[in-house]
Amino acid sequence: MDAKPVLLITRKLSDNAEARAARDYDVRLNPEDRVYDTDELLAKCEGVDAILPCHSEHFSADIVGRLPDRVKIIANHSVGTDHCDLDALAAKGVVVTNTPDVLSDATAEIAVLLMLGAARRASEGDRMMRAGTWDFWSPSFMVGTQVTGKRLGIIGMGRVGQVMARRGRGFDMEVHYYNRSRLSPDREQGAVDHDTVEDLLSVSDVLSLHCPATPDTTNFMNADMFNRLPDGAIFVNTARGALVDENALIGALKSGRVAAAGLDVFQTEPGGNPAFAELENVFMLPHIGSATFDTRDAMGFRALDNLDAFFSGGEPGDRVA
Ligand code: DGY
Repeated sequence: MDAKPVLLITRKLSDNAEARAARDYDVRLNPEDRVYDTDELLAKCEGVDAILPCHSEHFSADIVGRLPDRVKIIANHSVGTDHCDLDALAAKGVVVTNTPDVLSDATAEIAVLLMLGAARRASEGDRMMRAGTWDFWSPSFMVGTQVTGKRLGIIGMGRVGQVMARRGRGFDMEVHYYNRSRLSPDREQGAVDHDTVEDLLSVSDVLSLHCPATPDTTNFMNADMFNRLPDGAIFVNTARGALVDENALIGALKSGRVAAAGLDVFQTEPGGNPAFAELENVFMLPHIGSATFDTRDAMGFRALDNLDAFFSGGEPGDRVA
């Protein structure tokens, strides 16, 4: 019998995913769930045929150049691949896959939570209750923004964006979007396509980002873009912190140009940006868009499906490089 491929799993996955991996591969696990620094990561990659990393492991051109030649595939446990230099990996002949589809529902759920939490001042109210400082009520107390019937702008109408559009319709929201290419009518479901991001921003009472972070989209939500939103807009980001100039967002939140923001992702992770914590009108979560039991199993299984296809001589379904 052929030896099983050696698989490095860089972080602690769900029990079900790790059990399946251990059944089919010679696995190297990280039961303590430590974050490897570059040298440790490269040392762990010695003698390995495949790596199953998360977005917390970075494969920059420099690191890719130092990867052992034995590594043939990086099967990401993430839909985002901005932590991987895909050109460098392709040039080295390393196959790269991701885990689309399986996290769309979970991520859209968090986008809805952030939208509502930001619009209805959830962190302010929660903080007040926990501190025991709720001592007043009146019709003018903690009044927020109602999203029902408002215009929902979506940048990136891929899988997550399309689920978010459906959830928005559940609130009778009018869906508008910007995408690299227009969707077919059955996917569009009546959503209004905009030719430019600028055009979309001008009609977005709620703006939700669902596009990938690439060198072209880094910091694209800058002061000029925030200024194009209607007064009192709600801004939601479950995609990547790199898309947003955080100082510009802080300025827009302070001026009231943006009424409130719901953020799950930040330029610096883990940790976030302490300046947001100073603002009452920000509702924040620590990058947990896909963190449900169901979705963690599904992401692990999807990454393993890609590895299985590769090692049985086929083409992994979710190949991105
Ligand atoms: C993703 O899949 O890209 C999520 O952000 C979790 O890594």
